[in-house]
Amino acid sequence: MLASRLAGYGLAVATLCTASFSYADSLPNVTILATGGTIAGTGATSTTTVGYSAAKLGVEKLIEAVPEMKTIANVSGEQVFQIASENMTNDHWLKLAKRVNELLKQSSVDGIVITHGTDTIEETAYFLNLVVKSKKPVVIVGAMRPATAISADGPINLYNAVGIAGSKDAQGRGVLVALNDEIQGAREVTKSNTMLASTFRAPDLGSLGYVVRGKPVFYRATARKHTVDTEFDIGKLDQLPEVDVVYGYANAKRTPIDAFVAGGDVGLVHAGTGNGSLATPVKEALKEARAKGVIVVRSSRTGSGITARNGEANDDELDFVAADNLNAQKARILLMLALTKTRDTKDIQRMFEVY
Ligand code: SIN
Repeated sequence: MLASRLAGYGLAVATLCTASFSYADSLPNVTILATGGTIAGTGATSTTTVGYSAAKLGVEKLIEAVPEMKTIANVSGEQVFQIASENMTNDHWLKLAKRVNELLKQSSVDGIVITHGTDTIEETAYFLNLVVKSKKPVVIVGAMRPATAISADGPINLYNAVGIAGSKDAQGRGVLVALNDEIQGAREVTKSNTMLASTFRAPDLGSLGYVVRGKPVFYRATARKHTVDTEFDIGKLDQLPEVDVVYGYANAKRTPIDAFVAGGDVGLVHAGTGNGSLATPVKEALKEARAKGVIVVRSSRTGSGITARNGEANDDELDFVAADNLNAQKARILLMLALTKTRDTKDIQRMFEVY
């Protein structure tokens, strides 16, 4: 049963295939970089939609599963890594971003699709949004159901992502995330639900557009700087500064902050309650961390809205940075990149208002 469904998706296990279709001059050239995730996942049965194994199928199988792509693009594939995205690290990001920049310099590449696990897709998307140096489309795509499931969403999401990546309309819009027939901007998108195919949302601000018949339809653009307009250059970096996230909650203690500082962190992001408020022991620990040179960013655990500077804490006095409306996991990314340029909190605050 499972084998026949795999075959139905073009995933016949015994079939050898190449990672590219024959080239047609009039079609855009799109490179698919595969990194793993549920889109490449397999389950024990066709109804296994939780408890499956992510990151099992190689890029050839993903391409083979969607022959319709050859009508909209010349597609080639590369397996960059094969991981579940909770295991994504700074080192993976640097490797991926360098490969993306290398490929986009080539005139033979019109756009890039990255297949990725949905759990940290928003983080990889925002990292790339800040460090990719090209206006060509970069589209990250995942799936909420493994490739072996009834109504797997991976094939249609991949088809849509290739359609976006090959489109001139998608140029200069920053890194995009494509799932569920929607196009989301890297800065605002977040995973909002553990199971639903409609999990990706940009709270309050909404999606950038839809995909219809493999073509993107845009209704709005991000107002924040990205890609070619950022000051970040990862070309010569082989590691990123150590920055971690501390979560705010009732009865919160200072223990994790002290541990991160003792472990050598140079930056900390606090996902505070409400508008980024700090429990007294947490505030004391962050103040001491700042006195030791650690840069502190206040964000919110609420999931939307602005963490206002000098609102729930006196940032001027504490010499802290406010995260604007970035969630904590994205504030961590911007702080890491900011720390590759400066340790000046005023300059870092400026970056949080620009990117
Ligand atoms: C992962 O993030 O790799 C697993 C979950 C998913 O892709 O939906």
